Amino acid sequence: MAETYKIAVIPGDGTGFEVVREGRKVLDAVAARFGFKIEASDFDLGGDRYLRTGEVLPDSAVSELRGFDAIYLGAIGHPDVKPGILEKGILLRLRFELDQYINLRPVKLYPGVDCPLKDKGPEHIDFTVVRENTEDLYFGGGGFLRKGTPQEVATQEMIATRFGVERCLRYAFELARRRDDQKMLTLVAKTNVLTYAHSLWERAFHEIGQADYPDIKRDYNHVDACCMWFVKNPEYYDTIVTPNMFGDIITDLGAMIQGGMGIAAGGNINPTGTSMFEPIGGSAPKYTGKNVINPLAAICAMGMLLEAEAAKTGDDAYARAGRRIEQAVMQVTPKLKSLSAGQMGYTTSEVGDMVCTALT
Ligand code: IPM
Ligand code: MG
Repeated sequence: MAETYKIAVIPGDGTGFEVVREGRKVLDAVAARFGFKIEASDFDLGGDRYLRTGEVLPDSAVSELRGFDAIYLGAIGHPDVKPGILEKGILLRLRFELDQYINLRPVKLYPGVDCPLKDKGPEHIDFTVVRENTEDLYFGGGGFLRKGTPQEVATQEMIATRFGVERCLRYAFELARRRDDQKMLTLVAKTNVLTYAHSLWERAFHEIGQADYPDIKRDYNHVDACCMWFVKNPEYYDTIVTPNMFGDIITDLGAMIQGGMGIAAGGNINPTGTSMFEPIGGSAPKYTGKNVINPLAAICAMGMLLEAEAAKTGDDAYARAGRRIEQAVMQVTPKLKSLSAGQMGYTTSEVGDMVCTALT
């Protein structure tokens, strides 16, 4: 059994504190059950610290975070801070500096959860999106010319590197192989318009697939068609791989068809480094401090954190613990009136307790 598992916890902003508290409760419960030790250290990062000190993410915090096995993040975004400062300064900076080049977002409808799609149930909605997490429109290149004048020009650049695309594709092919499903990987892009960057994606997809993953069926969708299929035929999908920006957009749609932000979790993964797991929803200022936010997304993120640790270290106890968390969540979802904040029929901490009870 591995030594103590060290995780950094960043509650962040708003309801981040409340959901992280429940995730930790669940972590303590599985650690006791599966016999591993946890050492959690809190990091005070987010809007309040920024307003108090002017610091967003000190360099020293980045290097400290590198020393942890994983990072558990609540939510980023503060109503008194201009949009972009915290998102770019904390979330995106950590993704880049820790080279978390995969953003893994399962889209799975759990039992008893209301789905906005007519006649679709858990048997129809179960796929995973592998979003590239360090390139594309997110790398931050661009500029202004004649800013503030009527002749202003603004550019925003998109990049795709063979290296960045290839490592993401390989991760996705491996995942499609491990998933006990159709062994199909769908590339979602826009090759009919983005004829340079997405040509690289398409060529790399087929070259790598043909050479190293002949057992995985290669499939392609334009991103607009993909949005249509998410609503019309979500059962079509198994594993999706997509560039950063499209991945951002389609996973919000994915979150809605799996029952909303209350349940949608994601992982920013560096398969050999420090990964970061989070509920994909925001800080929900309106619900902050009321004990009404749904902690299940954060609890599912904790399950993903443990499964990723198992993949990194080969330690099966973490894998079993991660799977156990998901099973417990699936026992709790049918008991909730709704997954929406304030409408669950239970408080945030009661839902956390229900998951802990279901674990044992
Ligand atoms: C997400 C979010 C972030 C993103 C924002 C907050 C920068 O929407 O994690 O999907 O665009 O990646
Ligand atoms: Mg997003």
